[in-house]
Amino acid sequence: MIFDILSLFPGMFASPLSESILGKAVDRGLITLRIQNIRDFALDRHQMTDDRPFGGGEGMVMKPEPIVRALEAMGREPTPHVVLLSPQGRLFHQGTARRWSGLPRLVLICGRYEGVDERVARHFVNEEISIGDYVLTGGELAAMVIVDAVTRLIPGVLGNESSAVAESFEELILEHPQYTRPQEFRGFRVPEILLSGHHAAIRKWRRGHALLRTRQRRPDLFARLELTVEDRDCLGGAEEEVAAEGRHADAGGDI
Ligand code: ADE
Repeated sequence: MIFDILSLFPGMFASPLSESILGKAVDRGLITLRIQNIRDFALDRHQMTDDRPFGGGEGMVMKPEPIVRALEAMGREPTPHVVLLSPQGRLFHQGTARRWSGLPRLVLICGRYEGVDERVARHFVNEEISIGDYVLTGGELAAMVIVDAVTRLIPGVLGNESSAVAESFEELILEHPQYTRPQEFRGFRVPEILLSGHHAAIRKWRRGHALLRTRQRRPDLFARLELTVEDRDCLGGAEEEVAAEGRHADAGGDI
């Protein structure tokens, strides 16, 4: 899969996209990352990429011409799916990542300043996307989030193919708590059941705690679940355990 990123700050991408799993995906030829500097496509002498908004107001607006010239210079082979990143877009979620992971090519345009001339969004992109209800200084970090979330779904990128499927949000439920060695850390013990070797009981414990934390932390996701009789049993077990420990069901961390 090819990712083409259009940005005024190409230097921001170097490290996040060259380390760890993304770096390996590049090295193994599973993805291609190409970063274009929008400024290279500005026509005027000063290479201006922004200007004052028509109608007045604060801040600067990104001019359409450099962006559209950059898009044109990149060609349409393989067919690009063009995305403008801005807080005004539809929300990115796991379903979006899954849909895009099957594409041959994704073009991510990183907006800056007060925004991008609306004619870009209206006439030259397929989708306008936001990664969350907060305002970043630009679309660059959003583009990196998207490259990461999409890449890990491409077959061959993760060592263990099943792990991408089993994880949070594929089933619209949060993951159960995880523990590793040591069994006791600063006086805090790992739940005994995880050390018991009783696989069925461990599965039940994990399901119960996944459901419980989903209900506590993401009531919006919990409301969409259709619980089986067994799910209710697992959830009841987790609730009892938490109550017996004297923890409040909605408690956060200890500090
Ligand atoms: N640019 C600024 N904030 C953004 C956000 N939340 N998502 C995508 N692009 C952005």
